[in-house]
Formats: sequence, C-alpha cells, structure tokens
Amino acid sequence: MKETDLRQLLNDMTLEEKIGQLVQLPGYFQQEGAVTGPAGDMGLTQNDLRFAGSYLGIIGAEKIKKLQTAFMEQHPHHIPLLFMADIINGYRTVFPIPLAQGCTFDPGLVEEGASIAAREAAAAVIHVTFSPMADLVRDARWGRVMESTGEDPYLNGQMAAAMVRGYQGDSVQQKGNIAACLKHFAGYGAPEGGRDYNNVELSPRTLREDYLPAYQAAVDAGCEAVMTSFNTLDRIPSAANEWLLKEVLRKEMGFSGMVISDWNALEELMAHGIAADQKEAAFLALRAGVDMDMTSPIYTRNLRQLVEEGKVPEQWVDESAWRVLTLKNKLGLFEKPFKDANEKDENALLLSTAHRQAALECAEKSFVLLKNEDRMLPLLGDEAAFIGPYVDSRYLNGAWSIFADDQDTVTIKTALSHYSKTRNIPTAPGCPINDPDQPIMGFQKHFSPDPCDPEAALRDAMILAKQAKKVVLCLGEHRECTGEAASRGDITLPKCQLRLLDEVSKVTQNIIVVLFGGRPLDIRPLKEKAKAILAAWLPGTEGGNAVVRTLLGECNPSGKLSMCLPYCVGQLPIHYNHLITGRPFHGDHHDGRFGSKYQDIPNDPLYPFGYGLSYTTFSYSPVRLSAKSMTKQGNVTASVTVTNTGACFGTETVQLYLRDLAASVARPVRMLKGFRKVALAPGESKEVSFTVSEAMLRFFGLSMRYASEPGDFDIFIGPDSHTENKARFSLE
Ligand code: BGC
Repeated sequence: MKETDLRQLLNDMTLEEKIGQLVQLPGYFQQEGAVTGPAGDMGLTQNDLRFAGSYLGIIGAEKIKKLQTAFMEQHPHHIPLLFMADIINGYRTVFPIPLAQGCTFDPGLVEEGASIAAREAAAAVIHVTFSPMADLVRDARWGRVMESTGEDPYLNGQMAAAMVRGYQGDSVQQKGNIAACLKHFAGYGAPEGGRDYNNVELSPRTLREDYLPAYQAAVDAGCEAVMTSFNTLDRIPSAANEWLLKEVLRKEMGFSGMVISDWNALEELMAHGIAADQKEAAFLALRAGVDMDMTSPIYTRNLRQLVEEGKVPEQWVDESAWRVLTLKNKLGLFEKPFKDANEKDENALLLSTAHRQAALECAEKSFVLLKNEDRMLPLLGDEAAFIGPYVDSRYLNGAWSIFADDQDTVTIKTALSHYSKTRNIPTAPGCPINDPDQPIMGFQKHFSPDPCDPEAALRDAMILAKQAKKVVLCLGEHRECTGEAASRGDITLPKCQLRLLDEVSKVTQNIIVVLFGGRPLDIRPLKEKAKAILAAWLPGTEGGNAVVRTLLGECNPSGKLSMCLPYCVGQLPIHYNHLITGRPFHGDHHDGRFGSKYQDIPNDPLYPFGYGLSYTTFSYSPVRLSAKSMTKQGNVTASVTVTNTGACFGTETVQLYLRDLAASVARPVRMLKGFRKVALAPGESKEVSFTVSEAMLRFFGLSMRYASEPGDFDIFIGPDSHTENKARFSLE
C-alpha cells in the first residue's frame, strides 16, 4: 500500500480501532498457541478481540489462513493481523542454541541458520520472530545465557546483525523472509545475582560501552522491531523508560520501527511499584514509546478512557498505531495477508535435507574441544562404550524450540548405529539425566524424572565400562535447566551424573566426556577425571549425528568459547574484558595478601573466552606491525603467520584483541576487535592480517564522548582471550 493510502487508513480508523492495533493477544485466546509467560485472564470482551493488532505464538499455514480470513472479514477496515512467535534457533529444523552459535565465530553460518528458520516459519505464517536476543551475558547462573551469543560486545554484535540479515534478507516482503524483533532492550542479561527478571544496575558507561553495541548492530542491520526488557535500569522498568526508548533507542541509535513490550510487562509495572493502577501503567508505557502491549490488558482496557479524559493525547496513539501499520505494510500484508503461508511449502521445507544439513554443519562448528590428552579423540574405530543419560536423549534442543518435535531429533545412539563400523557399539544410560529428588518445572510442560532406576542403570553401565578401551560419557544439564526462568545457584552437574563419572573413573582412565547443556557449567570434576572433553551444548535436530561425526574424526572441532567456563559459581559474574583494578593479582598466592583475588579460588576461569582446541595444533608467529605508530586518519596493519603443526586438516579462529594502556577512564585488560577463520592443511601456513583503525580505539571517555585518546596500545593476536602474543603501537 502507498504511504498516502496508509495515512488515509489511519485517519479513517476510530480510536478503538487504533488502540486495537497496539494490542497483541496470546495465542491461547484461540484455544492454542505457546504460553511463554504467566497466562492470565485478560478480562477482554469479544469487541476487544475484534480490533486486535496481533497474535503471539500461533503457527500453521492452514489454521492461520482461516483465522486471518475470519478476522479480516469482521474488521471494519479489514486490517490483517500480525503473527509473531519465538523462532529462536530454528523452527522445525532446530539449530544449536544461540550460545553455541556464538562459538562458531562464523556470522555467515549464523545468517544462513536464521534464513532457514525464517523460510520454515514464513511458510507456517509467522511474520515476525522475537529474535535476535542481543543481551550481553556474564553470569552463568542466568538461565537465559543459552539465548545469547555470549559475553563479548563485538561478537554479539556480529551475530545479532547476522541473524537480522538472515531473517529479513533484502526485504521483509520477499517470500521466505520475516521481520526480526531485537530483544530485550536493554541490559536484561545483567540481572543481579543471575536471577531472571531481577533488577539491573549498570553504570551509564558500562551500558553504552558493553551492553548497547550488540543492540546497535542489530538496529544498524535494519531490524524492524524491538522488544523492551523486563528489568529495571536505573530503577525504571524498560517498558516505562522514556529516556531509554526515545532518547537512546530512537534518537541516538536511530531506530524507527515498532517497539513491543515483553510478555505482560505493562501489567507488571504495577508489581514493580511504579504504577499505582492499570491506567497509570498504560499512560507510562505509551508515553515511554511502547507501541504494542504484549499479552496484557493494559492498553485495551485503559487507553480509550485516558484519551477521552484528555490525559493521553490521541496523537500518541496515532504514532504507535502508525508504526504497527507501517510494519504490516512493509511485510506486504495488506496485499497478501497470508504472506508466504503455504501448506505445500510447509511440508516441503520443514526438516528438508538441505535444512538438516545446514543444522548439522552449524552444530559441528559450534562444538568446543576443551581437553584432549593422549589423543583420546578422534576415536579410531569402535573401541569405546557410550554411557550416560544423553546417549539416547532426544532433549537436544534448547528450551525455546517450542514448535519443534523431539521425535525429529537424531540421538547419539541412532547416529552411532549409522556411522559405526561394527554397528554394535555398547551403550547404556548409566543414570537418569536429573537427580530424582530434583524434579524440573518444564518451560512448556512439567517433566517427571526419567523412568530409570539409578542403581540398576549404574550396575549395567559399569559392566560396559570395565570391558571397553575407552568410555564416552555423555553428560550434561537437562535442557529445561536453562532458558527463561531457569536461573540456578548451583551450576554443577546433577549428583547422579557425578557419581557415574566417579565410578567409571575407578575402572578406566580413558574417559571422554561429551558435555551437553545451555550454560557454562562448573566442570572441575570432569576436567580432573576425563582425558577429553567436548562441549556440545544443545546442538539441535542433528545433534546426534554431529557428535558422532566429530568423535569419529569425520569433522574436526573448531568452536571457540563464546562465554568463559567459570572455575566455580563463586566467580560469577565473570568476563575476560574486565578492568584491571589498582591491585592486580598476578597469579601467585604467596605474593602477599593485598591483591585483588579470592583466598580460596583462582581469578581465572577454568577455560577462557575464545578458547577451543582442534584435533590438530596451530602455531602463531609473533605479531608484526606495519608501523609503530599511527595518526587518527591512518591505520596499522597487524599480522601473524598461523601454521598447522599437526597431522590433520583444521580450522583456527584467529582473534584480535586491543588494550588501551592509559586513558581518561579505566579500560578493560583487552577487548576483542576482530577475528578471522583460517583453514589449514597439515604443515600449511597462512598470513592473517587485521587493519587497526582509529575507530577501533574509541570508547566513552571522561566526558562521555565516544572518541579515541592518543597513547600506547597493545595488540594481541592469538587463539583465545588469554594470549600473550602481542606488540605495542601508539596513536599520535
Ligand atoms: C520472553 C521473551 C519472549 C516472549 C514471547 C517472554 O516471556 O521474555 O523473550 O519473546 O515471552 O514469548
């Protein structure tokens, strides 16, 4: 529709109709749909439902076509509904969780995954996905770390932008593309104590320097919508934070699309204690710039009265309705209200061979080899027994894969029968996935403990362990232990799994652990007792195939940690790009008392950000610089030669970090500013170069201006965030 026609449409709409556009109803109002937050009685009338702007969480071409048709017929201006849903790491073909996708350090791969998710979802009539989640994370207690691509602002920005490009393509109107809704603005990834929905305290500088860049990258990539976060920031919940939404998001960051609240967040303004009643909540949210109210009754039941009483200018309603209508128009819904809905496409696309292949590749590239002593991996043949609750588990998708069917997931056991030479690899669960006394409250449904007798399972497993040359232990946290509302104060493995590890280690030293889960766990016992550890996260539909192919050496691990693995929960929050303090600790506990350290645990994580091994080895030459100094207009080229010093083909992610040695405000010990993937045959060397420009040296200095300051800088180039391979240059 032409913009003038859209304006005319808005002019012709009644106040009630315009308010309707600002309302998103939960799918369960249609007796179905995903419930991802508290499901309440919104107290709406049939009339309220008649004018709604959007539905959340309903899927399926046939069903939605009927709903859309009936809805438009009865709507006075025949305005189509917008269908939104959480397509996070795939729709029916499930890709690894975002935290694992971060470990690929491969934005191209992530973009492809998002575009496949979009194609599948579009065929099932999703118009907008609530993704990417660009929240920076530093605390593994928070269950939603699985939805983030990790702890680094630069990596997160690359990944968020890649996802937006993947979902939206060149235009959201084109077939197979959907609109991206960036979330959760802002700072949701920093809840106090790692407890979901909790308060967030961020200094203005930390907010801008570390937390906003990934959101900015998604905005720059053109995301069409933004979701507010549940948390308070400077004691103001985001859904009522006018400064955050208008000054920062719209003016400074240049976002011009639609802003939607998170689930029921407007109603929750009362619980936060900043709105005395529903009317005040409606006023505060609309004034702040929340265009659409996700699943609460606040706008529907209060805006009309507020406008009639003169407390809310109708202009505010018009502006928000305009943004909703604009998004519908961009998607082409006025001409094609079903957009790409197509039962045939749905059948052909969902879980197609090509989609599964892409999911397999992404999973393989997300695996991080943490340890590999005595060449435990790859397996040479069928010499290992596979033990553990994940051997035959279909729970390889993250908590958000609400539209996927676990039956489509390839388990390790199934994959083994396909890939192994003898087709007779011994397997046993060994124990349940969770301790029987720790029942899990599911995301969508309740999970009862596995029907597995722990004692009998252990007995059976030990028979296999004693006979095998190597034992592959498939362990990990249950997928429902991460995701929304899944914060944990204890990030160790369930007791029954640790017991299994303990018992197996009494009969063999040759233990390989494949570790599953949605968060960095405290894996000290694994590091101590296993000779090899492969972090496989929650790898999705093709998880079993990806794990088995990797263990057998059909592919070589190349993932790098997108979030460090802490030594233990007491270190949290932890991140590599921290400030140095006035009393830096250099690692020697005999050095005296007064350093910034713990008395009982190290400062360093168990495995740092960016870390990951390969079946081959790589060496790095010292860093070479094209010049020792540069002007603000110039640049310096920093290079290394990377050599494959091992016996097989492999891919290394070469990482560039910068450190500003003295500035007007304290600067992090280093910050990731670039990375490149380099594939090398045995013995092969390649030069990898990075251009360092003045823009990469900017930060929010004393006056809060984003600018560089002259002085000395260290350039680090190496395999992870702990590299000491460095050279110094100065900015004139
Ligand atoms: C979550 C969002 C999600 C929304 C809709 C909320 O509970 O915080 O991330 O997009 O539900 O399902």
